[in-house]
Amino acid sequence: MRKKIVAGNWKMNTIVPEGVELAKAVVAKSAEVPAEVGLVVAAPFTHLAPVAAVVKGTRVALSAQNCADKEKGAYTGEVSVDMLKSVDCEYTILGHSERRQYYGETDAKLVEKTRLALAAGLKVILCVGENLDEREAGKHFQVVSDQTKAVLYNFSAEDMKNIVVAYEPVWAIGTGKTATAEQAEEIHACIRKVLAEKFGAQVADDTTILYGGSCKPSNAKELFAMPDIDGGLIGGAALKADDFIGIALSF
Ligand code: PGA
Repeated sequence: MRKKIVAGNWKMNTIVPEGVELAKAVVAKSAEVPAEVGLVVAAPFTHLAPVAAVVKGTRVALSAQNCADKEKGAYTGEVSVDMLKSVDCEYTILGHSERRQYYGETDAKLVEKTRLALAAGLKVILCVGENLDEREAGKHFQVVSDQTKAVLYNFSAEDMKNIVVAYEPVWAIGTGKTATAEQAEEIHACIRKVLAEKFGAQVADDTTILYGGSCKPSNAKELFAMPDIDGGLIGGAALKADDFIGIALSF
């Protein structure tokens, strides 16, 4: 059975003391959430060490939001996978649409980042998703299939045990416009089919696929009821512990 996960992507929000308080509140409320639901907080780089101290020994896992595409060396401003491991990160998000759009994250870079992350023992939450133009042109299945293949077809069935996919339609991120449960489900099913074609039905069936994009306590239940939606990658609503936990209670 694949794992259910609710992951909070804090993006570039909160200063360190606020992030520490948010993590403490998430830990405090985490007991309400059924044990089979994995809880993850993806904090900014500056917050990782102090937040790691808060979540250590709890059921809340720590994630980064990105990592370098190089192992180490003269890459000013970058943060390596070994650095993330050294502060007890369990996951890193990769390929978020904001990174693809604003920071030139290419599929080739994402392959390299994923390779380094897995080699360091990090799990990867790989984001895919079409923008509004692509959806309106009816290209959403194609775009998401292509993005999924471009990165994940470079990896093995064994690697897939440590990879989570997050479908995040760009037009739904931070816009208050959620994909309907049916719109999300048909893309999730498509991603699972793409994975099955390369890795076989079992691996596809075992892969956790999250939905992201204006997910909140009021719409999470409908989304999570879909057979191929295994949880959420939560932006805005993850900045309030009550909302984040409310989403995690929506299975
Ligand atoms: P949102 O962001 O929940 O604020 O729409 C989701 C994400 O980008 O991960």
